[in-house]
Amino acid sequence: MNAADQEAWQRVQWLRQELRRHNEKYFQQDAPEIADGAYDRLFAELLQWEARYPLWVSEDSPTQRVGGRPGSRFVQVRHGVAMLSLDNLFQPEDVAAFDRRLREGLGQVGEVGYVAEPKLDGVAVSLLYRAGCLLRAATRGDGQVGEEITEQVRTIAAVPQQLQGSGWPELCEVRGEVYMPLAGFAAWNEQARVRGERPFANPRNGAAGSLRQLDVSITAERPLQFFAHGYGQWQGALPESHAVLLQWLQAWGVPVCPLWRRVEGAAGCLAFYEDLQRQRDDLPYEVDGVVYKVDCLADRERLGALSRTPRWAAAHKFAAREEATLLLAVDVQVGRTGVLTPVARLQAVRVGGVTITNATLHNFQELALKDVRIGDTVLVRRAGDVIPEVVSVVLSARPENAAMVPVPERCPVCGGAVQQEEGKVALRCLAGLTCPAQRKEAIKHFVARRAMDMDGLGERLIELLLREGLVQDVADLFALSQHRDRLAALERLGDKSVDNLLAAIEAAKQRHLGRFLFALGIREVGEATALNLARHFGSWQALQQASQEELQGVAEVGTVVAEQFWQFCREPNNLLLLQRLQQVENTRWWQMVAENMEGDRPLAGKTVVLTGTLASMTRQEAKARLEGLGARVSGSVSDRTFLLIAGAAPGSKRQQAEARGVRILDEGELLTLLQQKVLPAVGESGAGGG
Ligand code: IVH
Repeated sequence: MNAADQEAWQRVQWLRQELRRHNEKYFQQDAPEIADGAYDRLFAELLQWEARYPLWVSEDSPTQRVGGRPGSRFVQVRHGVAMLSLDNLFQPEDVAAFDRRLREGLGQVGEVGYVAEPKLDGVAVSLLYRAGCLLRAATRGDGQVGEEITEQVRTIAAVPQQLQGSGWPELCEVRGEVYMPLAGFAAWNEQARVRGERPFANPRNGAAGSLRQLDVSITAERPLQFFAHGYGQWQGALPESHAVLLQWLQAWGVPVCPLWRRVEGAAGCLAFYEDLQRQRDDLPYEVDGVVYKVDCLADRERLGALSRTPRWAAAHKFAAREEATLLLAVDVQVGRTGVLTPVARLQAVRVGGVTITNATLHNFQELALKDVRIGDTVLVRRAGDVIPEVVSVVLSARPENAAMVPVPERCPVCGGAVQQEEGKVALRCLAGLTCPAQRKEAIKHFVARRAMDMDGLGERLIELLLREGLVQDVADLFALSQHRDRLAALERLGDKSVDNLLAAIEAAKQRHLGRFLFALGIREVGEATALNLARHFGSWQALQQASQEELQGVAEVGTVVAEQFWQFCREPNNLLLLQRLQQVENTRWWQMVAENMEGDRPLAGKTVVLTGTLASMTRQEAKARLEGLGARVSGSVSDRTFLLIAGAAPGSKRQQAEARGVRILDEGELLTLLQQKVLPAVGESGAGGG
């Protein structure tokens, strides 16, 4: 061996060792130490070396094996048909080369037909059905041998215990992905934080960790879902194509991700990729790329497979959602209710296509649990429109001088005392509205769109008004019209902006009690609770006099909300503020009158999706009228979708809505909603509906 070969050999050995170590962490311990992107890069490098030195390829190289060895606690099962992994494609050129290879392999002149599917970021499982009955479920393991997880999988409602319909073979193996939807993941982690437990690093870890429970009652509590994407053993007739297989599975009651499409050639694949990438942030589950599969099953046979991957399919990855970067400092942010949140200042890093420099560490308990120190290399994660967060520390990269993060003893903004409430994780500044940070956040909340909706009063302007001493609290906003000249003299604020600002403040006097209550920022009183309270009592006066028991008579108001509300109404500083607000003239916010009870904005804060064609109006018009009722009209169905309006020929959005149990209105019901400004009762068909 010459020196260059020697160096290459050492590199190959090192790469294999690293990849094995990371496999162990990822598959066995659910505790990845490096980001997926970094893993993929190491893997790709090893593949390159092995292509250059084919003699070095050994059976035990990570490139020749699939994922993780099965663990020892579960019963091991041998797959009748190996569960393969997928080659990764990164660039459009890689997709073109993949397509060219297949066309040549098939000796085909025309375009190859593919099914393009989202690559779901979950755990691959095999479901064996005999006589339509779920017989056994298993993980992929090393591809040959996996772990038996039948009882765990039986707790997932989406997985049918018994296939529906007819035509399924005597024995068939459905393969797919168990995943944790983003909403379930977020809710679970929030609960874990309240309990002071370690949250899941990401939804994939959530799914894997939940399946790995020997006590299935634990698995049963976890928000898991399933989508099928293939088959294994099959004793009976197979369809001609993957597309038809997916339709069969769907008909048998097996959930199939509705976003798959049949496409032609590399161009079709790339168009699908672009399209899905645009939707990525709105999807209710994590998707880390696209899988392209040759549609014709006979062609797949002809193409065959290598030891680890089939030739007829490949994964085209999106930009990773997790990356490693350096933690430069930890700042402490003080929120509206005084909660102190540690925020990581990071060396700029691109995550999922966006550059981030800050990420939340949630609270000091979690920071300690994750043992995060300044100077550490940390994994950061960004998904959808969620705030980026620090997931974990790369301990092997910790420098000697990494510094512990001190838990603040005083509020970093006002210097006031802080306290950790009993049974709570959060540290809180006790100064209330005398703390400038809380004052600013309180004003921001008061003027927000879903509260008093003062258009044009953004954070910068609020900071400026506070700095100039023009406002101290929300009551001062209504006195700003007396300081017109001082306002106009402020930097960046011309006459026109002042006019707009004052008009927005004037308009806010028209908001009703429901919004006003929400705007006050009373702890535990969210938008829906505020509206319920306002509707029930009708006036501020009645509310203020209500006992805690009376408050609890309102929908969704329990002891905690009632107590917080009752206390708010009796706290001396709040009473002073309310008194000053009462002196503001021409306001409507002390009452909830009949006209704004129901007719106001029945869809306030709700997300509505339109699909198909409407006979009675254009889509533009429907959108505008729905927005008039307070709705946010979005282009795609997600977990946030409240309603789907389905016109004629609705397409896949209808299936997506059905799969999520989203309420669907037809055109007749839409017209009823627009006219009466109330949601029609379920089952009550509108004019011409049906
Ligand atoms: S097909 C031989 N389709 O990705 C083909 N896999 O890297 C095997 N995955 O083990 C898989 N979404 O866990 C396929 N729509 C999809 C997928 C998908 C996610 C996972 C699966 C597999 C891994 C391969």
